Amino acid sequence: YYIGLDLGTSALKLLLMSGQGEICKIISKEYPISFPKPGWSEQNPVDWWNAAVDGIRELVRDVVDKNQIKGISFGGQMHGLVVLDKDDHVIRPAILWNDGRTAEECKYLNEVVGTEKLSQYTANIAFAGFTAPKILWMQKHEPENFRKIHKIMLPKDYLAYRLSGVFCTDVSDASGMLLFDVEHKCWSEEMLNICGIKREQVADIYESYEAVGTITSEAAGELGLPQNVKIIAGAGDNAAAAIGTGTVGDGRCNVSLGTSGTIFISSKNFGVDENNALHSFAHADGHFHLMGCMLSAASCNKWWMEDIIGTKEYGKEQESVQNLGENHVFFLPYLMGERSPHNDPDARGAFIGMSMDTKRSDMTLAVLEGVAFAMRDSLEVAKSLGIDIKRTTICGGGAKSLLWRKIMANVLNLEVDIIESEEGPGYGGAILAAVGCGEYDSVEEAAKKLVKVVDTVKPDSELVKKYEKRYKIFRQIYPNLKFLYP
Ligand code: XUL
Repeated sequence: YYIGLDLGTSALKLLLMSGQGEICKIISKEYPISFPKPGWSEQNPVDWWNAAVDGIRELVRDVVDKNQIKGISFGGQMHGLVVLDKDDHVIRPAILWNDGRTAEECKYLNEVVGTEKLSQYTANIAFAGFTAPKILWMQKHEPENFRKIHKIMLPKDYLAYRLSGVFCTDVSDASGMLLFDVEHKCWSEEMLNICGIKREQVADIYESYEAVGTITSEAAGELGLPQNVKIIAGAGDNAAAAIGTGTVGDGRCNVSLGTSGTIFISSKNFGVDENNALHSFAHADGHFHLMGCMLSAASCNKWWMEDIIGTKEYGKEQESVQNLGENHVFFLPYLMGERSPHNDPDARGAFIGMSMDTKRSDMTLAVLEGVAFAMRDSLEVAKSLGIDIKRTTICGGGAKSLLWRKIMANVLNLEVDIIESEEGPGYGGAILAAVGCGEYDSVEEAAKKLVKVVDTVKPDSELVKKYEKRYKIFRQIYPNLKFLYP
């Protein structure tokens, strides 16, 4: 048996999988997130560890013989800055992937160091939320904390460290730090220098499916697991989700509707788009991928439903929605600023086009459509590179909604394949653990054998035409509003 840990933004989702890919149990442990200032976003790494300890104990209780647990791996929220001192204590709360405090540092990196150099060193440019600008922010605003830094890690690597005692990271997650030379899969000396850090402060790099070591006896005792459980490096949550949905090899696509929204395109070869609008990262299957990332996707719907109209009855609310493709209301989903493709941490959300007869259901629909239109922006960048995409898989909490799946299929004009398990990163993490323990020869082989498509949502040509018109209008809204944001 294998355990996949999906270290998400709202919760740790734990999944137990048999060697044949059968899901035996899934549980979830929530932890808080804090927004200490507008646009800031933090979590305490010790909360993640406590969730892992409680969760793993509960996951394996009474289901399987614990001695049959062979390996643990991860899909983790990307880019977060976790810093430990010389005694391995967390120095300050982790600064998360959707934190927008680094506008100034990104400006310095993109304009003074220059996007050309950044792209040459790392295959990417600076986006608020990436790790390197956060290190520069700490150096300037918290010099005392900065001086204490002994180890810099990504969120899931903190769990791997506490489980195995090995200071490690993997190629897919390291790609999102802006410290990593993606093409050559090694740390960029230039970027480490620019950020004022030394090689010893960053981890050793593994392919996502490689074992980094075995569980320490201390962790094994705390979790009630056998001594020989292997810890496998794991991947950033998007690469792990790609494995969990079979998005491996060349030209495959996966869309994730989680707290963030991503469109992920796998590729056998390394490649960069001219304007670096899409991220160019290493994939967990040993190859590469391109990705567009929206900072708020299912989180827009959660905000609208729970915080604004005050209901948790998502299904009932969506039943009242009518007139797909004819909605007169538009919604811009930039509640935390936006990454792809606008790279604007100051962007904000907006509803546009209401009239006296606008109903609540029109606004509910506008939120779902706004996320789909914003995802289409990244798809357009990929298409402009000559990448031919006809179908995609879908995962994440938002993918549970039949209405949202239909909107995505028609706005993106793609066939949307539904996978047996929506637990993309958790399932992908468990698959990586199985590969790392030798149950399968390669990630590609495991994904092909284990991931099953159970349904396909096909776009409807009439609705596609209607959405095409609406999308043309949507595209004009942000450029006209962006000057109003501070
Ligand atoms: C990807 C990104 C998000 C997080 C969410 O670049 O920032 O998708 O990984 O956990």
